[in-house]
Amino acid sequence: MTPLTPLAPARIETVLFSAARIRERVDEVAIDIAADFGDDCRIVAILKGSFVFVADLIRQLSGRGLHPVVDFIGISSYGAETVSCGAATLQGQLSLPVQGRRILLIDDILDTGVTLQAATRLLLDNGASEVRTCVLLDKPARRIVPIRADFVGFTIDNVFVVGYGLDYDNRYRHLPYLATLTVPAP
Ligand code: IMP
Ligand code: MG
Repeated sequence: MTPLTPLAPARIETVLFSAARIRERVDEVAIDIAADFGDDCRIVAILKGSFVFVADLIRQLSGRGLHPVVDFIGISSYGAETVSCGAATLQGQLSLPVQGRRILLIDDILDTGVTLQAATRLLLDNGASEVRTCVLLDKPARRIVPIRADFVGFTIDNVFVVGYGLDYDNRYRHLPYLATLTVPAP
């Protein structure tokens, strides 16, 4: 287990999206997903950052008459840093079959694209018939692999954000809003 390491003190800078704005946008994304998937909505979500988004999204989908089925996988490309190391590692495995199914793959944020690309490949290698992708946040300026998401909550500039499930060294996930974080240079 990785211990929580003492880091240079970080500071919440600006609230980008309030809890109310996130709720509104998640509902809009749920409408788009419901139109695309109908009742057969199989979700595979990437831990840990997506858990708050997914928890809200599936309840919005439920409110739209869907009965989503959810699985989680762990893929990590970040340590106690605010830049991607450019390599993704799968932790654990799929617990529900994806063979022959359309899958909605969900992550918190599309940054370099390494994670979403690796997860998409994993699902296709396991026999998924199609993978649609959904992210709460998209940072197109940081992309190093050619991938785009089918459903996007918010597109943001190249800033590091925390809250609503997103962390910096496992902290700040509990914040109900999304905010930029400033980490002073050591
Ligand atoms: P990628 O593989 O570079 O696209 O990174 C995707 C993963 O990096 C996400 O699932 C997040 O866990 C993490 N990540 C990228 N940008 C941020 C950020 O601004 N805040 C917190 N986590 C981030
Ligand atoms: Mg993540």
